[in-house]
Amino acid sequence: MKILFLGDVVGRAGRKAVAHHLPGLIARHGFDFVVVNGENAAGGLGITEKIFDDLLEAGADCITTGNHAWNQKEALVFAERQERFIRPANYPDGTPGRGANIFTAKNGARVLVVQIMGQLFMPALDDPFAAAARALAASPLGNACDAIIVDMHAEASSEKQVMGAFLDGKVSLVVGTHTHVPTADHRILPGGTAFITDAGMCGDYDSIIGMEKDEPLRRATRKIPSSHLVPATGPGALSGVAIETDDASGLAKSISAIRIGPGLPPAEPDF
Ligand SMILES: [Fe+2]
Ligand SMILES: [Fe+2]
Repeated sequence: MKILFLGDVVGRAGRKAVAHHLPGLIARHGFDFVVVNGENAAGGLGITEKIFDDLLEAGADCITTGNHAWNQKEALVFAERQERFIRPANYPDGTPGRGANIFTAKNGARVLVVQIMGQLFMPALDDPFAAAARALAASPLGNACDAIIVDMHAEASSEKQVMGAFLDGKVSLVVGTHTHVPTADHRILPGGTAFITDAGMCGDYDSIIGMEKDEPLRRATRKIPSSHLVPATGPGALSGVAIETDDASGLAKSISAIRIGPGLPPAEPDF
């Protein structure tokens, strides 16, 4: 089956890029399942239910989030009723919403989506590796589901690569999110799991990780915050990865970069 994952959607520029490009991308490549990280979709921080529904309307089957899951307070409520909303699984017990869920793809296959948040330079959540192991023990690949996607939301490249090694051979894809910068290391790990350290963002790349440059420049040079960070408003690009999985094993056969729009060298899969 063919699976598409798009990195963090940042603000209106990211939302417009998704609305503009995603339907055609799905039509061109026949993706069976699409995951979009939406943690920065609403003004750069969090996601509203309206935006959540708009991303589903554009073609997403599941929306993952991250450390900004709750910046829009309404998410604490709609995360419960929206089964396609995924937040990190290693939040404390009792956190609203789901850290993992199984979905039916367009081809009828069962897809488990799990999100895990890293601990390095991030809010201190529960052990990410124990949380990943628990999610997979409940729904192992080839048994309870036909494909498994793990969104590893973390700051440190090393921690994301450790998660790739930890899950190699057990899941279809480990994809890093959160740093908003696409890495060039998409590959199949020795055990058959597709991996990339970071999927990049969907947003305006003429920015500092999706935000207008003025305030980050002021904070870096003067050390005095003088206003809020606001998303950059120029034309947005899509960034992420596409994989093909083996129907029998659920492991990855190929992984390709997806980069469409200004500011990034273009890339689309050849399948
Ligand atoms: Fe993000
Ligand atoms: Fe994040």
